[in-house]
Amino acid sequence: MSKLNIVILAAGKGTRMYSNTPKVLHEIGGKSILAHVIESAKALRPSKIIVVYGYGGEVVREAFAQENISWVKQAEQLGTGHAVQQALPFLDADADTLILLGDVPLVDAEVCQKLVEQSDNTLAILTFNKADPTGYGRIERSVNGNVQAIVEHKDATAAQRNIIEVNTGIMAMPNKYLVQWLSQLTNNNAQAEYYLTDIVSLAVAQGIKVAAEITADEWSVTGINSKVDLSAIERVYQNRNAQKLLQQGVTLKDPSRLDVRGTLFCGRNVEIDVNCLFEGNVTLADNVKISANCVIKNAVIGIGSRVAPFTHIDDTHIAENCSIGPYARLRPGTVLAAETHIGNFVEIKNSQVDIGSKINHLSYVGDATVGANVNIGAGVITCNYDGANKFRTVIEDNVFIGSDTQLVAPITIGKNATIAAGSTITKDAPAEQLTFCRAKDQKSIANWKRPTKINEKNS
Ligand code: UD1
Ligand code: CA
Repeated sequence: MSKLNIVILAAGKGTRMYSNTPKVLHEIGGKSILAHVIESAKALRPSKIIVVYGYGGEVVREAFAQENISWVKQAEQLGTGHAVQQALPFLDADADTLILLGDVPLVDAEVCQKLVEQSDNTLAILTFNKADPTGYGRIERSVNGNVQAIVEHKDATAAQRNIIEVNTGIMAMPNKYLVQWLSQLTNNNAQAEYYLTDIVSLAVAQGIKVAAEITADEWSVTGINSKVDLSAIERVYQNRNAQKLLQQGVTLKDPSRLDVRGTLFCGRNVEIDVNCLFEGNVTLADNVKISANCVIKNAVIGIGSRVAPFTHIDDTHIAENCSIGPYARLRPGTVLAAETHIGNFVEIKNSQVDIGSKINHLSYVGDATVGANVNIGAGVITCNYDGANKFRTVIEDNVFIGSDTQLVAPITIGKNATIAAGSTITKDAPAEQLTFCRAKDQKSIANWKRPTKINEKNS
């Protein structure tokens, strides 16, 4: 097999998206449409990937600045043939070229591989049967089934329009022929465009073999032109991803109510309840259980840990056998050691919590280092911010912080210390002692009456 060049056509304006974002930068599964195409292209190990982009496409280029891609601008969109002509200076004379479309994100690398394997001395095209072929190029075959030409919808006769086998736009051929064919294209057609599809009849005229691979997977060749298409493909992508997880042994309470925008890696015996969203890179170790309605982004959750409903986790590392939520919010920089318990309405940010500690109700813990076996009572707040700067709170092992305490950072609470409920602690608390700081005098007023509602008519 010879060297492979891949040309991705992405100069289309995407007018029907009605968006300021270029079409190919819209996302499927949290990754841009073009990124999906590039990923499939890379799987084929080409020597070169060339992307043909159009007016306003500089942001597209910038989005892929890290990738080893040759970019070619097609200033005016004069057709798919014209687009490939722009890539000619980048093509290797001795290579084969695979043409992909930048707006077809579910393109199947294995099917492309089949085309490429045939392309040494052949023009290999990918087709499919479409119940309503309106708009597509039709595959015209001879009586003995050989492909003769691709006829664009607008140029097709009534009889040709009845053909349901259509062109996907994906094809592979040797560059030595492609170069010749591109130079012979004309724009004498209904759209006054240079059609890449005209290379089929040029090949036939030269006696070069045209092979058609018919795919049964329509979604893998479906392009995105509108938000309607985008949402349909998103669902297909999500369903396929959910099926893969099920096949790996993950329990999904309802595969149609799972969204993965990134990569979700699951160990054995993982269970995920409905309406969970996973973003970025998430790893769920063996026996992890995620309850309904959780949003989890860039996180590692250790063996046997449980996440209760409505919990939000971002950029967090959770060790084994932890219990999180319901309604917990773990923000970036949270690191929880084994067997920690984080309960409802607790927010943790940029903090480490050591083994077995419990923060069970209504607390804010920010910029803190919490030791092992610490119990933080309900409504405790680390006052980490003075309006200008952030400071750390250090809570050493076996500390007990009573409810409704404010710890004004920078501050250290020594080992085995107890802080009485309702305290506002502004200075370091010594180890082993009880420290409290409350209003001194508790008063009771006898015969005190609660206010009653003022009668509106008399007021
Ligand atoms: C093209 C095919 C048609 C096929 C259909 C599949 C041609 C002439 N027709 O039709 O046989 O059934 O795709 O969807 O090839 N593009 C450029 N520059 C251009 C024109 C297009 O880069 O000047 C890119 C677009 O961004 C897009 C792809 O080429 O990714 C296809 O263009 P589009 O206009 O959608 O093709 P159709 O005319 O629908
Ligand atoms: Ca067109």
